[in-house]
Amino acid sequence: MYNKRFIIPGLVIFVLFVTFPLWFNAFSTASPVPKPELPPGGEKECVAPASEMRDRHMVLLNEWRDGVLRDGERDVITVGGKQYRKGLQMACMQCHTSKEKFCDTCHDYTSVKPFCWDCHLTPEEAALKKETH
Ligand code: HEC
Ligand code: HEC
Ligand code: HEC
Repeated sequence: MYNKRFIIPGLVIFVLFVTFPLWFNAFSTASPVPKPELPPGGEKECVAPASEMRDRHMVLLNEWRDGVLRDGERDVITVGGKQYRKGLQMACMQCHTSKEKFCDTCHDYTSVKPFCWDCHLTPEEAALKKETH
């Protein structure tokens, strides 16, 4: 008889333990971390290692812009054997062909709104422009 004191709580704990993933998911409110789309063209490398890109792509973009505008550095960079010209549209968006499926998935999640697209064309806008002109 003395076992009952242990069996019931034991069972309760066991059930809670086994079903942990179910109720943990139901009660956790954090939305899933975004998965930005990998380049649909199949490119495997970025202009720098992915971890570095995650941390400092904004800095790199500023450096590129300053380089191009102030010093006229329109260098060609080589990634995975292919050449690109330094630039938002001319390099980044050649591989990351969708602003929405790549840049925005992270930016929406972290509520960052880069104003770059006020002037720079997104790939979609660039394609549209080509069609209508
Ligand atoms: C007010 C308009 C405007 C805004 C906003 C703007 N840019 Fe630019 N950007 C330009 C112009 C004009 C050039 C020069 C284009 C050229 O000479 O090829 C340029 C050039 C650049 C270049 C180098 C060449 C190229 O074509 O990509 C980079 C990189 C760049 N901008 C990044 C950015 C980033 C990142 C942002 C947002 C943080 C941004 N820009 C916001 C107008 C703007
Ligand atoms: C030659 C194609 C190519 C170019 C050009 C390129 N990328 Fe990438 N980028 C990739 C690939 C492929 C990955 C994924 C690499 C990996 O997972 O190891 C990536 C990863 C990234 C990541 C990390 C994504 C993540 O899931 O965490 C960021 C941010 C990024 N790129 C931004 C940029 C920006 C900004 C530019 C322009 C300055 C740029 N990329 C230019 C191909 C490119
Ligand atoms: C892996 C997630 C991720 C991807 C993919 C990504 N970004 Fe970002 N980006 C961020 C985060 C997070 C910040 C805010 C960083 C901070 O505030 O320190 C940011 C900030 C920026 C900023 C500075 C904006 C500001 O107001 O300070 C620019 C410019 C930018 N990203 C451009 C791009 C472009 C262009 C792409 C697509 C080619 C891109 N990012 C893709 C995560 C990402």
